Amino acid sequence: MVKITLLISIILLTCTQNAKSQVKPWPVSAEDAGKINPIPVELKNLGIGRNIFTRTCVACHGAKADGKGLIPSASLIDETFQKQSDGSIFFKINTGRDKMPPFKGMLKEDEIWSVVNYLRILVNRSALPPAKDVNLEISTGEEIKSITAYVHSADSAKLPFPEVDVHFYIKRDFGLMRIGELSNYTGADGKVKVVFPEKIIGDKEGNVTVLAKVEDNFLYNNSEMAVERKWGEQMVTEDEKFNQRALWGSRDKSPVWLLLLANGIIVGIWGVIFYVIYNLFRIKKTGKIFIKE
Ligand code: HEC
Repeated sequence: MVKITLLISIILLTCTQNAKSQVKPWPVSAEDAGKINPIPVELKNLGIGRNIFTRTCVACHGAKADGKGLIPSASLIDETFQKQSDGSIFFKINTGRDKMPPFKGMLKEDEIWSVVNYLRILVNRSALPPAKDVNLEISTGEEIKSITAYVHSADSAKLPFPEVDVHFYIKRDFGLMRIGELSNYTGADGKVKVVFPEKIIGDKEGNVTVLAKVEDNFLYNNSEMAVERKWGEQMVTEDEKFNQRALWGSRDKSPVWLLLLANGIIVGIWGVIFYVIYNLFRIKKTGKIFIKE
């Protein structure tokens, strides 16, 4: 009993030790901690912050920023983390430590501040500006088959929206096939282009429907747009094969041997039944002869 208690206390002790070493204090000078975030919490900057986060930080910090990425790192959404000043967070992203890479030089200062804003928004959605309506327009290149999506404000001003993630799809019979990258961000002109893949089979004329979508983006409301182009290869249905008698054919196309076999079985069984009934009558008839004598 004493042994078990000892064992448990040793395990507990090592666990807490581990937990402690994970939150090794990361000192930030008062000057750095006091730096003011110059970037306003606005749609455009949040978009930049969000995109940098999904491109560069998700691998380690996880999609929810809870520190559960491929490399166990720090939660960026828990209370103790969020209590820090913007300046402290900026300093840590800028300089890095151990497995946390220094992003100084890799990202512009403004970009790091935008990421800080984005991290704040993750835990405080109320500070988020309301999602904007967008309109999508598609234009297509003909020489090189490409699709350009243009994301702009839904009003008549048609202001281009940069840093919006657009998803591209090809419509298939049973769903959508993704094309392009996982994320395709619009540039300063609100446009993003993807190349149409080779060897896509369309309908009988080779028509394919291409879709562009803004979706699952909390900064913008969903929007989508489709175009049809004759860019695919023609679908060839081998009609002669469908017209042959075969096992996989429809009822009037079933193979002759199968018809003979199935009908033969039915005729055989009925034949036996009638033979039995016939014999019963014969037995009855012969019986009558005996009774007369
Ligand atoms: C290669 C993995 C990796 C990548 C990529 C990465 N981080 Fe980290 N990050 C870590 C690790 C590990 C720690 C814990 C470091 C420590 O405490 O010594 C950390 C710590 C941090 C901290 C400090 C947490 C605290 O408790 O104060 C911040 C802020 C941070 N990361 C933000 C980011 C941002 C923003 C990005 C993307 C621009 C990013 N990280 C990319 C691994 C990573």
